[in-house]
Amino acid sequence: MEVKESILRRQLVDVHGVPLFQSIAEKWAQVESFQARPDDLLIATYPKSGTTWISEIVDMIYNDGNVEQCKRDSITNRVPFMEMLIPGIFNGVEKLNMMPSPRCIKTHLPVQLLPKSVGKSSCKIIYVARNAKDVAVSYYHFYQMAKLHPEPGTWDEFLEKFVEGKVVFGSWYDHVNGWWEKRKSLPLLYLFYEDMKEDPRRELQRVLRFLEKEVTEEIVQRILHHTSFQEMQKNPTSNYKHAPAALMDHSVSPFMRKGISGDWKNHFTVAQNEKFDEDYAEKMKGSTLTFRMEIPEAT
Ligand code: A3P
Repeated sequence: MEVKESILRRQLVDVHGVPLFQSIAEKWAQVESFQARPDDLLIATYPKSGTTWISEIVDMIYNDGNVEQCKRDSITNRVPFMEMLIPGIFNGVEKLNMMPSPRCIKTHLPVQLLPKSVGKSSCKIIYVARNAKDVAVSYYHFYQMAKLHPEPGTWDEFLEKFVEGKVVFGSWYDHVNGWWEKRKSLPLLYLFYEDMKEDPRRELQRVLRFLEKEVTEEIVQRILHHTSFQEMQKNPTSNYKHAPAALMDHSVSPFMRKGISGDWKNHFTVAQNEKFDEDYAEKMKGSTLTFRMEIPEAT
């Protein structure tokens, strides 16, 4: 798989007010015409919110906790990224068109950019949200290692861009709120990364109920073990080490970086935090969504 230098570190392109990779913008009509099926499961997230984690959990559920079966292929092929288009390497829509049902589909699109067929199909959707500060930190490290993104600049510069929504997939604030509203009209389970960290078993049970799946206690334990951070970090089918090094340089920052809540405290200065909080209060005014910026240490 040859990665052309010309596709790396390119500027983002505005698609209906949302900054996206140029390659996606160029083929936007293809994304818009994506055909969802009623038995699809859509996994929607803002980047760096636990997409890979919930994808692995769902694939384990779909495969009755069979670990070997879940190692059949990389997570990018098991749960294809719908709108992602990397010229000569990956086309999410084409991959999904060829995939037999039932499909699990990943998307980072804000709700207003979702292809119309998704709503019409009434397929189930799981959304995972993570607190903005940890997302910003995780995204900053990801921008550094994943070279499809523009150069992130310094942490301070990146944080500014994040707050302004000038990063791939746009404003975190619009994203989490847009999908929060959508739960009223679509069959959607809204999860929080912090809840999954705090009590993975409880959240797994919620997912099982939503998917109307009953599994034995042994399978529950197997899913929890296989999808723990430690296991996923060393699993070559979920840790993204399969991606070409030119696209993702794990020596800069591993994809499976820390997997904790509250790491923002190691990055935000007091001044950055105060400014962020002030702006956050303004942007989240009127929203009924609440986030936990950290969770108590497990005992
Ligand atoms: P950090 O960079 O904070 O470590 P996404 O899959 O949406 O890109 O999210 C990636 C983030 O989820 C990374 O966060 C990654 O470490 C974390 N993550 C992935 N698998 C996880 C797991 N099993 N448990 C907890 N966090 C996980």
